[in-house]
Amino acid sequence: MNNDHEKENAAIASLDYVTHDCILGVGTGSTVNYLIENLDRVKHKIKSVVSSSVDSTRRLQSAGFIVEELSTVGKPDLYIDGADEVDSSHNLIKGGGGAHTREKIVASASNEFVCIVDDSKLVTRLGAFPLPVKVIPESRSLVARKIVSMGGTPIYRAGFVTDQGNHILDIQDLDISNPEAVEVLLNNIPGVVDNGIFAFNKPKTVLVSK
Ligand code: A5P
Repeated sequence: MNNDHEKENAAIASLDYVTHDCILGVGTGSTVNYLIENLDRVKHKIKSVVSSSVDSTRRLQSAGFIVEELSTVGKPDLYIDGADEVDSSHNLIKGGGGAHTREKIVASASNEFVCIVDDSKLVTRLGAFPLPVKVIPESRSLVARKIVSMGGTPIYRAGFVTDQGNHILDIQDLDISNPEAVEVLLNNIPGVVDNGIFAFNKPKTVLVSK
C-alpha cells in the first residue's frame, strides 16, 4: 500500500505549525519527503533548518535550503517527522529507514514535535512493525542473544549501514505493551546505540490523513 496522496496531505497540514522565524527540524522518510517538496510554501517563515539524516539533508539542499548543525542552532522550535506505527498515547515506532537515532536527538531537542502519518500507521499496540534496534557492528550477536532472551526475534538488516556506520536488527515478536520500559531495557544492552521506540520523545500532535 503506497498511500502517497494521504502522506502528502498530512505533510501539507503540518505546514500550519511553522510559525515566523521558525527553527525547523526535519525528519526522514517518504512522508517527510512530501514535506520537503512543499516547504517552499512557508520558506519566508523559516529562519533555519536542521536535518535528521543524510538523505533529508540532500533533499533540503536541492530544494534551496541551507541546512545547519543542531549544535549550532540550539533548540529547534518545531520538529516534523513521520512514523512507522503510532498508538493512541502517541508512542511511536520509527526507524524503518534506519535514521531513528538522529531523529530522536532532534525530536528531543525541539520545543514541539508534530508527527505526520497516513491512517495505516495507527495501531492499538506497538509491535506489528518490526522494531529497529541500531547496534555498533561488533555488538550485533551479543545484542541479538539478549533480545532473544527477552522473547524477541531479531532479524539482521543485511547490507544496510546507517549514516553513522552502524547496523540494524529488526525485532519481531517482542511484547511492547509498556513502551517506556522496553525503550529503556533495549537501550541498556551494551552496544545498542538506540532503538526505534519513541515513548520519552513522543509527539504532542499527530496529524493523520485518510
Ligand atoms: C526513518 O528512519 C523513519 O523513522 C521514518 O520516519 C519512518 O519510517 C516513516 O517513514 P515513511 O514516512 O516513509 O513511512
